[in-house]
Amino acid sequence: MIFIDACFGKKTPYAPVWMMRQAGRYLPEYMRVRAEAGDFLSLCKDPKRACEVTLQPMDILGVDAAILFSDILVVPMEMGMDLRFEKGEGPVFDTPLTSRAQLEALHVEAAAERLSYVYEAISLVRAKLAPEKALIGFCGAPWTLATYMIEGKGTKTYAVCKKLLYSDPALLHAILRKVTDVLKLYMARQIEAGVNAVQIFDSWAAALEEAAFFEFSWSYIKELAAFLKETYPHVPVILFPKGISGYLDKIDGNFDVFGVDWSTPIELAKEKLGDKYVLQGNMEPTRLYDKKAIDAGIEHIVSVMQNSRHIFNLGHGILPDIPVEHAKYFIQSVQERTRL
Ligand code: CP3
Repeated sequence: MIFIDACFGKKTPYAPVWMMRQAGRYLPEYMRVRAEAGDFLSLCKDPKRACEVTLQPMDILGVDAAILFSDILVVPMEMGMDLRFEKGEGPVFDTPLTSRAQLEALHVEAAAERLSYVYEAISLVRAKLAPEKALIGFCGAPWTLATYMIEGKGTKTYAVCKKLLYSDPALLHAILRKVTDVLKLYMARQIEAGVNAVQIFDSWAAALEEAAFFEFSWSYIKELAAFLKETYPHVPVILFPKGISGYLDKIDGNFDVFGVDWSTPIELAKEKLGDKYVLQGNMEPTRLYDKKAIDAGIEHIVSVMQNSRHIFNLGHGILPDIPVEHAKYFIQSVQERTRL
């Protein structure tokens, strides 16, 4: 698999490429299957339909890896929190996690067990996916999951989490500990079910100051990555902490690929981390609105990364109103432009 070779730093015929959120709303085919399922969460819990939408970008765009269709928030949901997705509001937990008693009521082993629809979707995808294409499994980083669990929804200020961080850091650590324990079981089960690589999304890493990031986020991500690398050395681990370009000097740990977000100059990531890790990223996602902007974005990244270990991607997820034609143009242009 060209994608897995690239994750391990081997030379490949071209730079493999995929997009975060490639299975999603910009595809009319996705909207059709979501409507059949009823709503987003029902789609996540339906292995056959989850398999179908996972495979859509393979056929439509020709990407080099599939990413499992699911959501990071199914984990806290199956730990025992009530999750719903509101139109225009995004994810909502009606009873946010604020006390030790609530934390104690959340499940660990049972949560990993209840996520069986994810493992079933993985088996179905792996059976249908072309053998040369990789399937990427994923989870949210403990910190990013905790922000939703504690705030009850998306937030601009992280005020509730930050209050907890200062007023009761031991409780915040206890939450992160429990989530990390579930994620170890969950990611192991995803690998046993057939994913070829895993990515950990720390979408809200940038909410934390440097010392707090390393204490409350990176330490748990590193622990999870080290556990996976020790247990499954043949499975590449990709980490994507978004928006932490100021902290790159202190990034270390046992993992394979560092996902560079679009706000981090790729030159800087290469200088700080390019010798230690394969880099993935990082075209600014709204460049997909305009073909000339796509060309210029690719050209810049190629000029920096052409002789280095690199996997092409966007620097965050694709937006729902991107023309499919432009997404296809991006994928094909990368594959042609980087061909040796
Ligand atoms: O990348 C993929 O194609 C695989 C599927 C995937 C989804 N969510 C599907 C989804 C992945 C990897 C995720 C991860 C995810 N989910 C993250 C981390 C990645 C990132 O983008 O930073 C986060 C923070 C979430 C939580 C989440 N899920 C939010 C905030 C929302 C609402 C977003 C919005 O724009 O409305 C979701 C919903 C969601 N997850 C959708 C999809 C396709 C849209 C739901 C729909 O069909 O209406």
